[in-house]
Parts: sequence; C-alpha cells; structure tokens
Amino acid sequence: MKGKLVFLGAGNMAEALVSGLMACHRWSRDQVVVTDIAPERRTRFVEKFSVHALSDNAVAVAEAAVVVLAVKPQMLAEVLGGIRAALPADALVLSIAAGITTAKIENLLGGRVRVVRAMPNTPALVGCGVAAICGGRNTKPGDLDTAENLLSATGEVVRVDEALMDAVTAVSGSGPAYVFYMMEAMLEAARQMGLPGDVARKLVYTTVKGSAELILQHGVPPEELRARVTSKGGTTAAAIAVKDRREVKAAIIEAMLAAHQRAGELARL
Ligand SMILES: NC(=O)c1ccc[n+]([C@@H]2O[C@H](COP(=O)([O-])OP(=O)(O)OC[C@H]3O[C@@H](n4cnc5c(N)ncnc54)[C@H](OP(=O)(O)O)[C@@H]3O)[C@@H](O)[C@H]2O)c1
Repeated sequence: MKGKLVFLGAGNMAEALVSGLMACHRWSRDQVVVTDIAPERRTRFVEKFSVHALSDNAVAVAEAAVVVLAVKPQMLAEVLGGIRAALPADALVLSIAAGITTAKIENLLGGRVRVVRAMPNTPALVGCGVAAICGGRNTKPGDLDTAENLLSATGEVVRVDEALMDAVTAVSGSGPAYVFYMMEAMLEAARQMGLPGDVARKLVYTTVKGSAELILQHGVPPEELRARVTSKGGTTAAAIAVKDRREVKAAIIEAMLAAHQRAGELARL
C-alpha cells in the first residue's frame, strides 16, 4: 500500500484533479485515496472513479507518497493536527488551500515536512485551469516536478516565488470572476439592444472563448489584436472611446491591486 496519492477533502477541486489524473492515466485507481467527512462525497468518488475513499485522514496518509490538502483553508489547522503523527517522513505535501503559507503548514506538521503550495483556479473544473506553484523550505529537487505533473492534469502550471502568490491570487485566482463580470455587462447590453437571451449568451460566451483561443494560439499581445479589429471611425473605436473616457482600464487595475492587498491581509490572519 506504500506510495499512495492521498487527497484530504473530496470537494470540487479534488474531483477536478482526480478526474484529470484518471483521464491521463498518470496514477492507477488503486493508488488513489480520497478522504471526506461527508459520506456522499466518498461514495461519489468510489462510484465515479473507482478510487479508495476513507473517512479517517490519519489512516489515509499512513501509506502516502503525496498528500494533497484539498479542504477549505479554515479547516486546514484541524486536518493537519489530525495527520501530523501518521504522516510518513518522506511524504510530499501539496497544498491547494488558498492563502495558507508553506511555513504555516510546515509548522503545523512539525517542521521537517516537504511542502509545495499551489494556487489553482476554477477553470480547472473543466480541464482549462492555470495553477501557480512554489516550494517551501524543505522541498527537494523534483518536488515541484511532482506537483506540476499532478496539477497539469487540470491545465497549465507556472512556478513562482512564494512572495508572489498573493499576486497570483489577484490575477488568476480571482481572474475568472473579472471575466464573468465583463460578460454580465455584455449580456445586459445585448438585452438592451433586443437580442434574445439564448442568442446573446451564445454570442458572448463564444466571443470570450474564441478571443482567449486566438491570443493563445497566435501569441500576439492583446493591444495588437485589439488594434487589428479597431478601424478609425468604426464601431469598435466607438466602444473603446467610451471605455477610455470612463477609465475602465484604470478601474480594472485598481480592482486587481485591491484583490492583491486583500490576499495579503487574509494570508496574515
Ligand atoms: N474552488 C476554487 O476555485 C479554488 C481555487 C483555488 C484554491 N482552492 C482551494 O482548494 C481547496 C478546496 O476547495 P474546494 O472548492 O474543492 O472546496 P470544497 O468543495 O468545500 O471541498 C472540501 C471538502 O473537504 C471536506 N472536508 C471538510 N473537513 C474535512 C476533514 N476534516 N477531513 C476531510 N475532508 C474534509 C468538505 O466537506 P464539507 O463540505 O462537509 O465541509 C468538502 O467536501 C480550498 O482550500 C480552496 O482554498 C479552490
């Protein structure tokens, strides 16, 4: 039973990761263990993925090679207290709990443990996420590779210094909400112009998806792609003129800096 991949917390993020890992066959079903306090979550994982599911975190981690901390941040101290004595000395701990530092996890687990911290985002639920990872003070060469290998099952992975994790939270962690906010406004404008709801949704959602695909595939900076669709005196120019007059770009920057500041405040609580 040695060498298990153990998820503590069988919630949305764990489900996205297990789903991605099973699809790309990186771990066998027999190697994967999830725990949850909710029996229905455990049943869901057994039925959907044929992985092991337990209610006891300490029992689950006893044979672990990698432990993924996938409970809500406010539950983490209690969960770590419960596994501290049972965690194998050579296990790698991968935390996806937002805002909790590697130092805090190391301290709660007794100091010597190897910890990688990750900040994923919700598009991971559909395999299109992006996660940033950083190592703690005991991580060995190869630990970030292990974490990247796991997280790449749900999308892209970047490596940053831990000091930049609050910035990552403000950019890609909260980022999907900024895009949804813009989509809300686009849908309202479409409604005011008389477009039926189903047509407006298809136009807006596909435009956002297509624009992201275009920039990813062409690798051209956004200002250049925007310039290409903005002819002088045209419709796009009329829209951008209003955005500039209303200082929309400055508002977006200010909003993201506020998210950055708040991430720092929450991490210090
Ligand atoms: N969702 C995101 O977009 C996102 C993005 C970045 C980071 N994260 C991080 O990912 C982590 C998981 O998020 P999530 O959205 O997957 O949360 P979630 O759906 O609430 O999953 C957490 C699961 O853990 C269970 N749980 C609670 N206490 C437990 C314990 N002591 N032992 C075992 N299981 C326990 C919860 O059960 P109950 O529901 O019954 O409490 C729940 O099923 C969080 O730390 C979050 O900060 C999430």
